[in-house]
Amino acid sequence: MTIPPGLVEGFTTLYGTPPTGVWSAPGRANLIGEHTDYNNGLVLPFAIDDRTWCAARVNGTGVVSVASTAQPTRHAVAIADLDQARFEGWSGYALGVAWALHASGHDLSRAPGVDILIDSTVPLGAGLSSSAALESAVAVTLNDLWELGLDRMALAKAGQLAENGAIGAPTGIMDQVASLFGQADHAVLLDCASLSTRAVPLSLERSGLALLVIDSTVKHAHADGGYASRREACEKGARAMGVPFLRDLTVADLAKAEAILDDETFRRVRHVVTENARVLDTVETLASSGPEAIGELLLASHASMRDDFEISVPEIDLAVETAMEAGAVGARLTGGGFGGSAVALLPATQVHNLTELVHAAASDRGFATPAVLIVTPSEGARRDQ
Ligand code: GLA
Repeated sequence: MTIPPGLVEGFTTLYGTPPTGVWSAPGRANLIGEHTDYNNGLVLPFAIDDRTWCAARVNGTGVVSVASTAQPTRHAVAIADLDQARFEGWSGYALGVAWALHASGHDLSRAPGVDILIDSTVPLGAGLSSSAALESAVAVTLNDLWELGLDRMALAKAGQLAENGAIGAPTGIMDQVASLFGQADHAVLLDCASLSTRAVPLSLERSGLALLVIDSTVKHAHADGGYASRREACEKGARAMGVPFLRDLTVADLAKAEAILDDETFRRVRHVVTENARVLDTVETLASSGPEAIGELLLASHASMRDDFEISVPEIDLAVETAMEAGAVGARLTGGGFGGSAVALLPATQVHNLTELVHAAASDRGFATPAVLIVTPSEGARRDQ
């Protein structure tokens, strides 16, 4: 995907001088491993081809200023005032990264102000991490313009801290890692305990398969209560089981968990423990038998999110069922849940057919028409110009 037409010119019009560079970072979809990241567990997301772009240059003012091609009003924060800064709206995800770099101890006392103009093709509120795409794009921009020399994991941590501390969404680190570490035709296996990453080949083209995202258009937001309450249930379950994180439990511990936990907490715990196991199974199955063999794991993950973690919605369940009836290999909710998108793995020849069936099924049930898009596992954050 190339730099959006008009971004560089738009920057020049807004700030009166051309940018010195353009940087970008992608959204992500998660193949498997949901609500495992903040439990120190395993995730297997991939970066998608939709990206968020930053045209930027250093200014002479000590102020970081952001605007977007969609909303050209400038939002700004003085670097010297980052300690007291309060953030609101979309610009908080961008300016929050400057705050997070400061809050995590990087010396910005000599950092110059920066002007940024943002453009994005990542759909908002679809569960494709438009927020992490924005944070990661700003993080690579500031890292270069401020010559911080930070590695990608440090930038992912800054993005997560922006989301947690500046926005107030208690999310894990999966989305930022996917956006920063993505590679074409690969998923990123992240172990959230060690923060080690490994690129896992997907070999989609060779297998004649495609990945589709079915956006229910039911809006989700992680600063709302559902995500936080799931996280609290996981922490409660870990405490009761006497472990620091649910990652420290295995399937063999579930009998004890069932005996000592209330039914709801047990089901939350069972989702996380079995989901970690499914991530490992998926990685092994991809290596031994290719993507055509992971369908059962995707479906088991969806059932676990629907029945045990209770984060699906009828629109997403219908999309998964319809995808399977239309010949998909597997399908599941992707992302935080409570709306957002499903991801389906299917023969590339079935994309058109599946799209039509998903639209018809939604219409029959009186649901909003889902937006269906082919996603291509793509390269992570980069400097484009
Ligand atoms: C959101 C969060 C992630 C992760 C997923 C669920 O996308 O931002 O950190 O917890 O939900 O897997």
